[in-house]
Amino acid sequence: MSRPVVTAEPAERIATIAQRMRDNKVGSVVVVDHDDRVIGILTERDMLRLAAAGSDASTAKVSEWMTADPDTVASGVDATAAFARLAEHGYRHIPVVDGGRLSGIVSMRDLMRVAMIQPADAQAHEVPKGLEGVVVADTMVGDVRGLEGFYHYREYSAVDLAKSRPIEDVWFLMFSGRLPATLAEREEFAADKRTRRRVPDAVMEVLPAIARAGEPFVPLDALRTAVSQYGATLGFRPSIDVDSVELHDNAMSVCAVVPTLICALWRLRNGLEPIAPRDDLAYAANYLYMMQGVEPEPEYAAAVEKYLISTIDHGFNASTFTARVITSTGADLGAAVVGAIGALSGPLHGGAPSRALQMLDEIGTADRAEPWLRAAVERGDRLMGFGHRVYKTDDPRSLMLREVAEQLGGDKMELARHIETAAVKVLDELKPGRRLYTNVEFYAGIVMDRCGIPRELFTPTFAASRVIGWCAHILEQAADNRLIRPSAHYVGPPPPEPVPPIR
Ligand SMILES: CC(C)(COP(=O)(O)OP(=O)(O)OC[C@H]1O[C@@H](n2cnc3c(N)ncnc32)[C@H](O)[C@@H]1OP(=O)(O)O)[C@@H](O)C(=O)NCCC(=O)NCCS
Repeated sequence: MSRPVVTAEPAERIATIAQRMRDNKVGSVVVVDHDDRVIGILTERDMLRLAAAGSDASTAKVSEWMTADPDTVASGVDATAAFARLAEHGYRHIPVVDGGRLSGIVSMRDLMRVAMIQPADAQAHEVPKGLEGVVVADTMVGDVRGLEGFYHYREYSAVDLAKSRPIEDVWFLMFSGRLPATLAEREEFAADKRTRRRVPDAVMEVLPAIARAGEPFVPLDALRTAVSQYGATLGFRPSIDVDSVELHDNAMSVCAVVPTLICALWRLRNGLEPIAPRDDLAYAANYLYMMQGVEPEPEYAAAVEKYLISTIDHGFNASTFTARVITSTGADLGAAVVGAIGALSGPLHGGAPSRALQMLDEIGTADRAEPWLRAAVERGDRLMGFGHRVYKTDDPRSLMLREVAEQLGGDKMELARHIETAAVKVLDELKPGRRLYTNVEFYAGIVMDRCGIPRELFTPTFAASRVIGWCAHILEQAADNRLIRPSAHYVGPPPPEPVPPIR
């Protein structure tokens, strides 16, 4: 056990305690009364909750965020029993009490020392290629259960949220850890978002140049450049230098402005004037309006909003991990979002929906589906919109979007269903045991196409919602940061070779 214990009083401010934890290099403090009796414990996880809720650490009190009446152990308890208590409840620290008074604290680290186990960071571990199945962090944002075909945001099923809430509620949930409790709270959040979605003049001025660059036009590249400019213009500071309130403010602004930037860049490239957001339209309706210049059919707006909600977050996917890695260096939020957009642009991640639709076009008719798909897989091609690193059953997003696509109807739907059936059959035959089914991208393309979103804006539309997830992860990473810096296994020619002279 460790002694003396770093303690706090219930009325002390969280900011003071955070500093005390840093000074003493501990991950928790025990909250005691005047008689040294344990009344609570405050851990890094509580700090994380506080930061995620956007609360001000300089005014919040320990008593408001601590876990009251924590489990304790007596000093006579042996190490194995203490270890079992920690493991069983998922605790990292447990106070030791003697005669009712605090006498020490046992941490996982203490017990590992007893067991002569080296801390994980002192050892080199071999991990599978692509980090498959490797757990790299604790998160309270959400998770994916691949074998069950289930994913969730915080404690709610993401599909249930998409079917029952507007996107602003889910955004609120991702940032603050809870859903808005009242209509007034929802409206306050939506009003804040509305004020932030206009593009500042200094950024608007450079958008025409960004939109003109490159042939062909790659809207996601343009968005990446514009977000970088936006962060610089708003003066985003390194995450390591700002408090959670300022970082939260940066995150709100970026998430609000991304849809406006996407539409403005695309219109400029097509010789059209950008359209300002309309305050009387709901989120997806406004997005389609800024893109198309007309108010969308309500069913199209509803379908796009469901799609957007369903793609806000999805575990430690490549772009989310990228955002967290960049944040772990203490870089500013703009840098993390720009990096995440870069990761999303790859076809193995976010770049697939337009390719899936392209495949539909190439196949053309139902009777050509099976031979076309078979030939493609035999050639070693990947069928876009099929397979997933985590899901080994139906992707729940694909199931929901298939339902949405069916409600919307349209000429592509019947062909899509046929291709899905044929592709699952061909993949099962030619790639047995890989369990490859449709992923989110297959029906996403059908839905977006039906709602009039041009193909080149499919992946940017994905980014418009995923930015909310990235930012929730950035806030979480910054609140409990440690530099993410793994190792690599060197497999080149054995060093040191003498450096040869030039010939
Ligand atoms: C999503 C994806 C990148 C996941 O890849 P992963 O977990 O790394 O899987 P692997 O690349 O290890 O593939 C495992 C096997 O299944 C095959 N496979 C995976 N997805 C496939 C697909 N869409 N079409 C054909 N074969 C596929 C691979 O060829 C490999 O076969 P092998 O064992 O004979 O070499 C992959 O399924 C894919 O490329 N899908 C198409 C692109 C796509 O839809 N992206 C959007 C993702 S949401």
